[in-house]
Amino acid sequence: MARFRSAQGGDRLSCKSRRFLGYGRQSIDQSDVDAVVGVLRSDFLTQGPAVDKFEAALAERVGARHAVAVSSGTAALHIACLVAGLRPGDRGLTAAVTFAASANCLLYAGADAGFVDIDGNGLAMSPTALAHALEKEPGVNAIVSVHLAGLAHEAAAIRSLARKRFVIEDACHAIGGRYDCGAPIGCGAYSDMCVFSFHPVKTITTGEGGAVVTNDGDLARRLRMLRNHGIEREASRFVGGDEREGGEVKPWLYEQQVLGFNYRMTDIQAALGLSQLTRLEQFLERRRAIARRYDEAFARLPHLHLPQSLPEQRGRSGHHLYIVLIDFAALRTTRTAFMGKLREHGIGTQVHYIPVYRQPYYVKRYALDRGAFPESESYYARCLSLPFYPGLTDEDVEHVIATITRLVTAG
Ligand SMILES: Cc1ncc(COP(=O)(O)O)c(C=O)c1O
Repeated sequence: MARFRSAQGGDRLSCKSRRFLGYGRQSIDQSDVDAVVGVLRSDFLTQGPAVDKFEAALAERVGARHAVAVSSGTAALHIACLVAGLRPGDRGLTAAVTFAASANCLLYAGADAGFVDIDGNGLAMSPTALAHALEKEPGVNAIVSVHLAGLAHEAAAIRSLARKRFVIEDACHAIGGRYDCGAPIGCGAYSDMCVFSFHPVKTITTGEGGAVVTNDGDLARRLRMLRNHGIEREASRFVGGDEREGGEVKPWLYEQQVLGFNYRMTDIQAALGLSQLTRLEQFLERRRAIARRYDEAFARLPHLHLPQSLPEQRGRSGHHLYIVLIDFAALRTTRTAFMGKLREHGIGTQVHYIPVYRQPYYVKRYALDRGAFPESESYYARCLSLPFYPGLTDEDVEHVIATITRLVTAG
C-alpha cells in the first residue's frame, strides 16, 4: 500500500487510495469563493459593509437583537467576559469538559475559573453539580456554559441556578441548534450573551472568526468598542470634553475610552460567513442524516455508548461533533491502538476534550482533585469523535460504520 500525506497532515496508509477522513472539515463551494473574490475586488478588505451584513444576517438567524463579529470564538469569549464586568478577585464557573478557551476567557479578564462536572449523557455541566458548586461558592460572579458537540443541554436549569449572575453561553459548537423549548440557540432566552466560533471544523466557517450575540444594546456597544481598541466614534458619547471646534464636532475625532484590542473580523471573512450562512440549513440537514445513520448502525454494538442520542436531543442539536463512548478495556485494547487501527483504514478520530483541569497549566494553577469530577473522568476515558461533516459521502459513512463494527465485534 502506498504511503501519502492527508490534507490534514500526517502519514496515512492508503486503502485502495481511499481519501483520508478527518473528524471534521469545512465545506466550501464556488459561491463561497465568488463571495470572497468579490470582497477582494472591492474597496474594503478589513471591517466594512460585509461585516455589517454578516452581523445582521447572523442576528436574524439566531433571533438576537445584536451580533458583534470578531476574529475568533476565543476573542468573542474574552470580550464577553470583560463586558460582563469580570475582573481580578472574581470567579467564574465553566464545564470541566470543554476546549480550554471556555476557561481561559475568565482568566484573561483577571478572574479565576472553577470547573463543574458534566452530565455524562447530555455532556454539559450537570445542574446538580452546578447547584452544589454554587452552594459551596456563593460568590461566583459568572457562568460560561458550554454546548458541547452542538447540544444545548439543561440551558433553562443553568440559567435558573445562575440567578442574577451573568451567563455566557459558549455555543462555539452550536450554531443552528435549538433549545428544548424550540427557540434558536443565541436568542437570549437563557443567557446574557452567546458566543459562536467560525473555525473551519465548525458548521459554518469564516476561516477564523467568532461572534457574540446579545439582546442588550449596551453590552453590544461595549463589545464593539473592545473589538476595536476601545475606540468610540459616536460624537454623542465622547467624554474628552474638547470635541468641538468653532461649534462643530471635529470631523476626524475619535476617542479611546477603554483598553481594547484588535479583534476585528475582516470583510473577507464576513463575506465567506454570509455565503456559508445561506447554506447552514443544508449543512445541518446533512449532519443530521449522518448522525441518524451512525446512531442506527451503532445502537446495538457491544461496549459502545452513544451520548446525546435521544431523538429529542438529535432533533435540535447543532451537530458539530459525533461522539461515541467506547469501553476500550472491555475490548481489550487502548484508545491509542483503536485510533491507530482506524487511521490505517483512512479514518481520523479525535478526543473532545481532555478535561481542562487536567491541563498542566490548570494543574499548576489549581491542582484540582480529579476525583471531584467522576462523570468527566469516565467520559474522558471513553470518548472518541468520528468523522462528521457534510462533505462525507454515503460511502464514506458506511466505511466508518463497517470499520468500527469490525473492530468492536472482533472479540
Ligand atoms: C467549546 C469551544 N469554545 C471556544 C473555542 C474557541 O474558538 P476559536 O477557535 O474560534 O477561537 C472552541 C474552538 O474549538 C471550542 O471548541
